[in-house]
Amino acid sequence: MTRLSVPRDRIRVVLTESIHPGAVQALSDAGYHNIETIKGAPTGSALRKVLADTHILGIRSQTKISADVLAAAPRLFCIGCFCIGTNQVDVDAAKRQGIPVFNAPYSNTRSVAELALGEIVMLFRRIPEKSTLAHAGIWRKTARGAHEVRGRTLGIVGYGHIGSQLSVLAEAIGMRVLYFDIVDKLALGNAVPVRSLNKLLAEADAVSLHIPDTPATRKMIGAAEIARMRPGAILINAARGSVVDLEALAEALRDGRLGGAAIDVFPQEPADGEERLQTPLQGLTNVILTPHVGGSTEEAQAAIGAAVADKLVTYSDNGSTVGAVNFVEVALPVQQGVTRFLHIHRNVPGVLMRINGVLSSRNLNIAAQYLRTDADVGYMVSDVDGQLAEGQGIRRALEAIDGTIRSRFLY
Ligand code: NAI
Repeated sequence: MTRLSVPRDRIRVVLTESIHPGAVQALSDAGYHNIETIKGAPTGSALRKVLADTHILGIRSQTKISADVLAAAPRLFCIGCFCIGTNQVDVDAAKRQGIPVFNAPYSNTRSVAELALGEIVMLFRRIPEKSTLAHAGIWRKTARGAHEVRGRTLGIVGYGHIGSQLSVLAEAIGMRVLYFDIVDKLALGNAVPVRSLNKLLAEADAVSLHIPDTPATRKMIGAAEIARMRPGAILINAARGSVVDLEALAEALRDGRLGGAAIDVFPQEPADGEERLQTPLQGLTNVILTPHVGGSTEEAQAAIGAAVADKLVTYSDNGSTVGAVNFVEVALPVQQGVTRFLHIHRNVPGVLMRINGVLSSRNLNIAAQYLRTDADVGYMVSDVDGQLAEGQGIRRALEAIDGTIRSRFLY
């Protein structure tokens, strides 16, 4: 196993917000045993105290890592967001401090796609309505208005990770799939791309939205678009709350122009369990409302735990920044018979020459070098022949180079 300039048992890992135990297991399997887990999301001085001697930090969405907080974390060298978003971290400040930030963008893709498919089936059978009646003791046993999904057309808006998964699942149960995306995407199976949103709306029996929140997608489905949908069609939104005009949707459902809807995301979502959800869709028949749980499954949590822990270990053990959201991407081979110096610096002239000066002045043979820069930061990795246990002296010389943000070595 590669040795690190800070030995693994001295690398302090802190995981906040009850991150999945699989992450602790993965880190521990990789030799990182100095792990503290914290239940909640620490703030203020408690957070600063935790970070004062932490090397690796794992958080979910509630631990806020601002530039000020980062300034109080001198040893921190990478952050894992055990979730999809990374807005809770000032990722630019982290980059300037030489800290790559990792996340798990695809670990809950399947969960969202499965929920959308399940809802399509439920809505075509008018189950929400029948279930509400049955809860009230009313026995409405009828086939009227209930349909199989087989042979029906599903229109997917946004054929990215979730949209394309849904496409495969929907075809497997016999749906015909159309999709609209602003980017040219490979059609999976027999799915057919359409040139415009309007064409998709006019042809689909069910429309499922899987686009991000951008200026172009805000209120993308408003009164005009709903009017273009087929009579009795259903709408699924498990994407972002900003993309559908819920007033217009409620009106179309009340009028019976649309057959049903499933909404998982809202323009204003309650911050916690105390706050109440308010939406014009409440009380309407054949409408499924869920509290932004599209991606919330135990499987997704486990997958997120494994994926982010793996990225943190890979960066710590090998230096690869693949998958970092804020950092130049350097994919490094497995280290064999070399000592690897990792040097993160401000992107100013002359740094590389000085790094090579330090290495050549010690008669070291450079086996390979990797360099990526962006406007602010450069990341230079030098593999030199041999296992240099005395790497510390070289590291000190590298750290003395003007513009250095941080350095490590692996041997
Ligand atoms: P993705 O980035 O893989 O796919 C998005 C697709 O939308 C891309 O193919 C992109 O080209 C396309 N797109 C962007 N703007 C468009 C436009 N104006 N018109 C048509 N297509 C457009 O994203 P992914 O992972 O599939 O996620 C999709 C959405 O699902 C995101 O908004 C995400 O926030 C949301 N999501 C919701 C979850 C939940 O719990 N409900 C969980 C995970 C993701």
